[in-house]
Amino acid sequence: MQIKQADFVTSAKGVAGCPEWQLPEFAFIGRSNVGKSSLINMLTNRKDLAKVSSTPGKTRLLNFFKVNGNWSLVDLPGYGFAKVAKSEKFDFNELVGDYLEQREQLRRLFVLIDSRLKPQRIDLDFLAWAGGIGVPVSLVFTKADKQSVKKTRDSVALFYEMLEGLIEELPESFVSSSKARDGRKELLGAIGRDLE
Ligand code: GTP
Ligand code: MG
Repeated sequence: MQIKQADFVTSAKGVAGCPEWQLPEFAFIGRSNVGKSSLINMLTNRKDLAKVSSTPGKTRLLNFFKVNGNWSLVDLPGYGFAKVAKSEKFDFNELVGDYLEQREQLRRLFVLIDSRLKPQRIDLDFLAWAGGIGVPVSLVFTKADKQSVKKTRDSVALFYEMLEGLIEELPESFVSSSKARDGRKELLGAIGRDLE
């Protein structure tokens, strides 16, 4: 799929503030700093469309981007970021939870996993919960440029071992590097198939 146009539309702090459109939405979630915003920029070929930061917790609202006039990417706040006030952390989760449970336009949820880390409890817990919302889920193993192909492969295999028995239908997965621009064709291809 070619990206002809990508524009920021709005930031919402609740489901009520989401765009009143009927465009299919593809949302990106995962731990803070895993590379959600970077991946959106890589996919759209835009350097600063989504705000990137080395400080975890950069994205705090639901950010909507309209692509090619007929579908949307949604950049979500990260989960598992403890360095914010407790009340704020709770709002994060509620905001994301409401969106994921209530938004009818949500076509697919991409759950980003840091390819360098051993399976993290918070990712597994999130995936177990997400299995219940009735939205198709795909995994994206990020930052693959930071280590060898073999390490990434082992990391993905270990993650799938942990998923066995935890969720009924094992999701498809992608390996990405926003820096090396890896995984772009595959991810856009998957979105394109969903849009057919
Ligand atoms: P929050 O909005 O805080 O939840 O973070 P996020 O998941 O949106 O992460 P973001 O895209 O802001 O990236 C976090 C940091 O990781 C930044 O310093 C990025 O430059 C870096 N980063 C993201 N993706 C990659 C990648 O594929 N390779 C490398 N080497 N660095 C990456
Ligand atoms: Mg972000």
